[in-house]
This record gives sequence, structure tokens and C-alpha cells, in this order.
Amino acid sequence: MEGITDGIFRQAHHKIFGGIDVYCLPFHKLTQSLSLLTREERDISPEENEGLTVLPQALTRDPEQLSAWLLYVSECGYSCADLNLGCPSPTVTGRGRGSGMLRDPGYLQSFLDRVFSNTLPVSLSAKTRIGYDSPDEWPGILDILSAYPFSHVTVHVRTTKDQYTGSARPEAFGLALRKGLPHPVYNGDLRTADDVAALPARFPGVEAVMIGRGLLKDPALARRIRGGAEAGREELAAWYETLYEGWNSRFGRTVALGRIKKLMEWPVEGDIRRKRLLRRADCIESCVGAVLDG
Ligand SMILES: Cc1cc2nc3c(=O)[nH]c(=O)nc-3n(C[C@H](O)[C@H](O)[C@H](O)COP(=O)(O)O)c2cc1C
Repeated sequence: MEGITDGIFRQAHHKIFGGIDVYCLPFHKLTQSLSLLTREERDISPEENEGLTVLPQALTRDPEQLSAWLLYVSECGYSCADLNLGCPSPTVTGRGRGSGMLRDPGYLQSFLDRVFSNTLPVSLSAKTRIGYDSPDEWPGILDILSAYPFSHVTVHVRTTKDQYTGSARPEAFGLALRKGLPHPVYNGDLRTADDVAALPARFPGVEAVMIGRGLLKDPALARRIRGGAEAGREELAAWYETLYEGWNSRFGRTVALGRIKKLMEWPVEGDIRRKRLLRRADCIESCVGAVLDG
């Protein structure tokens, strides 16, 4: 999640809460020149991810760009990478990238033919939505994705049109299992340990889940899914302070305060009073007070 889950976030999260097997890196937006942004280069560097298992991700509709990037990923020392077929942002889909690739199944298939026609230097997974306009597109997309040797496919159970708040469509995951999509990973609206615990009863073949916003709201969620403790107040205060200090030393006070507030809006979602206090806070101590004490 670009602008939030950088190396400072991942390292602090791993140290304080843990419970995550693989941290997915925010996508690299590939370009013709293949040059990465400074932020993207830093994010994928082995130093930034020391001690963590991470999954780099690319956004592109150009098979040559993807091949060159996969080589770069392997030279960085990683053994797996992910293709983004899920980003719903109009600036991305308008150029036929991210979930914009789902709108043109013919192109998706020829793109994947070219990508998989070479021996890949790292294993490749994909992150997809279940259609562009409608879930009726899902069976066709599944036929295409199932034909390639992806190491896994993460399924965000929404269409592009649904964006992030339209109703999730979990039944689409059942179809992915029945159709033999390689190692499908469930994603979408997993907010509590109970949400995750309920999945195997509904989808006996589910092997793994991906968590997005739930972890921003409750950083101990992955630990709780594994039967661990809820986050305590002191732990949460240490979490926010550690992030602030990391961002402050890297970007300076103004950026750090902006970032920490952006993150802290998640746990106070729906709480108008705390949200107002957070907005007015002008230092990390008052941010922590606003969110944890109200
Ligand atoms: C701010 C933000 C940034 C995101 N960035 C990425 C990204 O770089 N790559 C990706 O695959 N998904 C990205 N996502 C989507 C999430 O990974 C996830 O699929 C989506 O939020 C649904 O899962 P959730 O309900 O657990 O959050 C992003 C989501 C948000 C809200």
C-alpha cells in the first residue's frame, strides 16, 4: 500500500507484532526506460527488507518490460514476484494496466503467452480482481489464468467497478477453487481473526489469505489470526512512535506527521470525535493520545 507500507512499516511491524509470512511490496509502475523511482528502488533493496520475506510487484502491460523487471528482481536476490492485475485506479486502468488488463481477455492471454514463453528467472504470481465491469467475466478470466504456471493467484473478490467499497463477492473464490486456479489466495474485507477462521468451512481448499486494510486498522490482526494476543495500549503506542521516528529520520517532521496521521485514520474510522482530535494533533504524542485515549 503505497505511501504507508514501506520498509520502515514492514520492519517495525515484523518486530512488534509479527504473524505475517510474506509482505507484499507496493507495485513498481514499469516504464519504457525501465528506470525506477528512488522510492521504488529503495523499497525493493535487500537492506530495506533484511530479515523479511517480501513479494515485489509490477504494474505493466508490456511483456518485455516485465521480463526485464523479473531479471532485476532476481538480481536483487529475490525468488518470486507478482503481476498486478488488480489496481482499479482510473489512471492505471485507462492505460490498460492493472485491472484494466481484465477488460481485454484476448490481450491478457497473448501477454501471458509471451511472458511464459521464456524460462522465468523467478517464480511469478498474480493479483487479480474478478472482472472489470461484472463478475460474469470471472469464468473467462479464470480459464485464462488457470492455463499458466503462476506460483499462486491472489483473488480480490471484487470487480474493478466495485473499487474498494462495493460488496465483496466471496462466491467467486469458490469458483476459482473448483476451476483449479493454481494456489488461490483469498483477499477482500478480512477484518477480524473470526473472518479468517470462518473461511475454511466455506472454502475447504483455501491455503492462504492476503490482508490489506484490516492490518492498517489492527496491526496485531495477523498475530491474532494465529491465536496470539490482541494489541495492548503500550504496544500500539510503541508501534506508532516507532513508525513516526523512522519516517521522521528519513523524510523529516512534516512528512512523518502526515504519514502517521494517514495511517492512524484507519483505526479511528467511523469515530468522528477521535478523527477530529487526530486532525488537530500537531505532534506524535497528541496523535497517539487522540487515537488511543480519545
Ligand atoms: C491505499 C491502498 C494501496 C494499495 N496498494 C496495492 C498495491 O500496491 N498492490 C496490490 O496488489 N494491492 C494494493 N491495494 C489493494 C489491497 O492489497 C487489497 O487487495 C484491497 O485493499 C482489498 O483487501 P482488504 O479488504 O483486505 O483491504 C491497495 C489498497 C489500498 C487501500
